[in-house]
Amino acid sequence: MMRSLFLAILAAPFLIIADDFVFEPNYDESKIPAYTLPDVLEGVKTAAEWPEKRTKWYSLIAREMFGEKTEAMLATKTTMAPAAPDKAILGGKGVLKQIVVKLAGEDINVALFLPKSAAEKPVPVFLGYNFAGNHAVFDDPDIILPSSWMMKRKDRTASEEDRGASASRWAVERIINGGFGLVTAYYGDVDPDFHDEFANGVHGELGQPENHEAASIATWSWALSRILDVLTDSIPEVDGEKVAVMGHSRLGKTSLWAGASDERFALVISNNSGCGGAALSRRAIGETVWRITDSFPHWFCGNFLRYANKEGEMPFDNHTLLALIAPRPLYVASAEEDTWADPKGEFLSCLHASPVYKLLGTKGLPATEMPAVNTPVQGQIGYHMRTGKHDVTDYDWEQYLKFATANLVP
Ligand code: GCU
Repeated sequence: MMRSLFLAILAAPFLIIADDFVFEPNYDESKIPAYTLPDVLEGVKTAAEWPEKRTKWYSLIAREMFGEKTEAMLATKTTMAPAAPDKAILGGKGVLKQIVVKLAGEDINVALFLPKSAAEKPVPVFLGYNFAGNHAVFDDPDIILPSSWMMKRKDRTASEEDRGASASRWAVERIINGGFGLVTAYYGDVDPDFHDEFANGVHGELGQPENHEAASIATWSWALSRILDVLTDSIPEVDGEKVAVMGHSRLGKTSLWAGASDERFALVISNNSGCGGAALSRRAIGETVWRITDSFPHWFCGNFLRYANKEGEMPFDNHTLLALIAPRPLYVASAEEDTWADPKGEFLSCLHASPVYKLLGTKGLPATEMPAVNTPVQGQIGYHMRTGKHDVTDYDWEQYLKFATANLVP
């Protein structure tokens, strides 16, 4: 209730001008407002001093952008149960395992695509949410359909028709051939992606957040950590110390916050996460803080609305979000035609997070200029901008596998 009132007051000026207000995104570099980025190190000179500064940035970003974990979240117990017998896939090269993670009254279906070798030796895995159900990730008749609200379907119900529909975004065979597993869940099983004043999904049990408390992105991120608990404690085929958290777009914003919030994630990947993710907010090019909070009021905590059209007043920017992942390997990927997500702003964020990586004794980002398209740079921070549009492609996975192999496989 308090949160809705607060949102209504903040939104009021926009509502008044709404009749003749047409949002025209800026795509012109020359129209970017002059800005000064907060210095991520703020005088920190040694690695030993960084943890205190990190805590400062983490607390700020939690309170002002994604929302802090609530007491109810911290008190929640996670349990799991097998959901189906293990099944050989890809002509016996791989195994499909399905479990249900029970969290705050919700059943989250988790599908694991593992190389056969995982039975003998635990494997590193990518953990990432999908947008359209586990059955859309890989075409197999036994993958369980979600029973939760489906964003991608007109009737909001999962359908057999969608088996394998998103397979081009998930290089399951390539991942398995590379000796990795893929663990995925539908994010709507945790919290359906529409604004309902935080009534459904896990919020049914957790309750409505206050303005400084976890909104949807932070809730999805928190649930990734609970899935990680289950992988670590109950799935011997997975090497819990080698879990790379990965996400695309809004789910890339989610993977960044999951990686920042839980240092057990050994590697973090943001695919085209853009505004509220890897991109610098102060550039206000493509999607802006006003636009994203207006279109998706449930993603960020109520406090974030303070910075709508006032990016310069943010006491942080998203390079400080990326720096929270240091010194763990971080990969940020952009797409050339995805100007809405501001590829250059995503690169600059990596560049300005890099001093922390270097202070902590790693190579950081091995570039000072934005690399040409399809020319990945990979240090402890990896970055590429591929040709094409907002998507996850085989090209992206090829780079993630190379990066994860270099960093997670001895
Ligand atoms: C919209 C939104 C982006 C988001 C994207 C997605 O385009 O404006 O911020 O990343 O949806 O998640 O697909």
